[in-house]
Amino acid sequence: MCGIFGYLGNKENSTEMVVEGLKRLEYRGYDSWGLASILQEKPAIEIVKKVGKISDFKGKKFAKSHIAIGHSRWATHGGVTQVNAHPQTSEKGGIAVVHNGIIENYQELREELAQEGHKFKSETDTEVIPHLIERYIELGFEKAFRKALARLKGRFAIVVVGEKQETIMAARRGSPMIVGKGKDEYFVASDIPAFLPYTRDVMYIDDNEMLIIKKNGEKAEINFFNLKDNSEIEKRIVEIDWDYTDAEKGDFDHFMLKEIMDQKETICRAINQDTKEIMKVAERIKGAYGTFLVGCGTAGKVCMAGDYFLSKIAQKHVNFVVASEFSAYHHFLTDKTLMVVVSQSGETADVLEAMEVAKKKGVQILSLVNVEGSSIQRQSDYSFLINAGPEKAVASTKAATSQLSLLLMIAYAVAGKLEEGRKLLIESASKINDMLNPRYLTYIKAVAEKIYEQENMYIIGKGENYPMALESAIKIQEVSYIHAEGFAAGELKHGPIALIEGGVPCLVLLSKDENYQDVINNAVELKSRGGYIIGISPENNEVFDQWIKVPDVNGASPIVNIIPVQILAYYLAVLRGKNPDMPRNLAKSVTVK
Ligand code: M6R
Repeated sequence: MCGIFGYLGNKENSTEMVVEGLKRLEYRGYDSWGLASILQEKPAIEIVKKVGKISDFKGKKFAKSHIAIGHSRWATHGGVTQVNAHPQTSEKGGIAVVHNGIIENYQELREELAQEGHKFKSETDTEVIPHLIERYIELGFEKAFRKALARLKGRFAIVVVGEKQETIMAARRGSPMIVGKGKDEYFVASDIPAFLPYTRDVMYIDDNEMLIIKKNGEKAEINFFNLKDNSEIEKRIVEIDWDYTDAEKGDFDHFMLKEIMDQKETICRAINQDTKEIMKVAERIKGAYGTFLVGCGTAGKVCMAGDYFLSKIAQKHVNFVVASEFSAYHHFLTDKTLMVVVSQSGETADVLEAMEVAKKKGVQILSLVNVEGSSIQRQSDYSFLINAGPEKAVASTKAATSQLSLLLMIAYAVAGKLEEGRKLLIESASKINDMLNPRYLTYIKAVAEKIYEQENMYIIGKGENYPMALESAIKIQEVSYIHAEGFAAGELKHGPIALIEGGVPCLVLLSKDENYQDVINNAVELKSRGGYIIGISPENNEVFDQWIKVPDVNGASPIVNIIPVQILAYYLAVLRGKNPDMPRNLAKSVTVK
């Protein structure tokens, strides 16, 4: 995925604004970046492209400009080079394009254009777009853009500017893009935090729509069009309630730590839902002939925990499927099936594809998302916002515990015990609030100091803590690059215990429930093979070499148990000299398959 930001308005420092906007979107892609500004005085396009993180850019004075676009890249087609960074430009250089997504037929288009004499400079799929626009430019900028779009196959969010054009044009199909409306100015961006310092008024763009923002004297005008029939579309302005500071890391060294600490409040926000809506969904789950819980990565592990919640609390059998594997189950989908998708970003391509498979069979879709107006939310029949606020670190933390909380509450609603569930979650939230204090962080940092040079770690859990063992492994892997693996505690003796040797850190996730003694016995087995046992548990046990205390919250234990692991993963990354916010090879939202 990549980050896109564009500005057209009455401010003269649009280029600096784009640089700042891209810094706020850096979590979306951080291998290279670039921008194009329409210079006020020439007029000409100024292009800047750099390899590396935009946050490392110390800045220069840019020429005056009211119109600029920019892009932070996460490479898909073509290596990480300055030439491959966006914007990509046309043959004559007068048209500049930034793009998020994949143009599937770019090779065919490239060959076609090459035969007409077009020369390509980059290895990107994107470069065909400005060349195509230039091919049709005699029809006018707007028509040329439409003609070019008609030739593209695949997913995209595209923003284009042209020399001598007081215009920004953009189009969306399958990749996120939204518009912010300020006073006599418009922003177009991949995500809301990019323009939050300027406006909270948002206009959502649907797939197969394009927009044109034009400068008209001191004012700016915007028009939206349906790409299928060119008809004009009216858009509503939605005021979002995110605050600018929610999307900043403030005094924290990293977003990951800030977002971990946000969990003092986010659980309560997640469960603050309309009772009628929760009951409606509970009835839908009760009446469904087959319910599938679907997500990827951390959201997938949350779905797996949801499977346990529904079984244990509501005695309801549901199926957990990783989104990228969902199509294998298409035989079992009917118009009486319910699909529950969980996604922080609401833009994950594998989830969207699974939803397409389900929709073809008439399946009803409920989503739990964090990003309002995201593709997944808009394509769902019902949707709950988890209200965690912007999550910018690649590692999902507060979104995961919010999703777990909401799924747990839904399970209680299905069991006809909504108030009991709400009470348990409110009590858990209050205990999490107490737990997340500086002393707790210092304590876990000291545990991290003991183990950060290890290259392997294993995590075990049972029942609803088994998915959390898997989630713990993801957290540790993605930010510290330690090889971490999670197992169902009972599976150890069926193979994984062969991996245990002297001093290997083993995290043991426990809850004071019917599984407690079994898991302690498994920890004893690990210890007798030399494992260094770190117990994450409401009570201490002699088998632990280190004890990380968590509050006793009974059935909500996955929510509290994962938090110290998030903190541990954070410190492991920092102690190993890694930036936990921007792990190598990963992107915050995976909008490609
Ligand atoms: O935006 P989504 O929740 O759909 O993202 C799903 C996964 O890509 C995501 O959870 C990923 O596994 C995280 N980086 C894990 O921390």
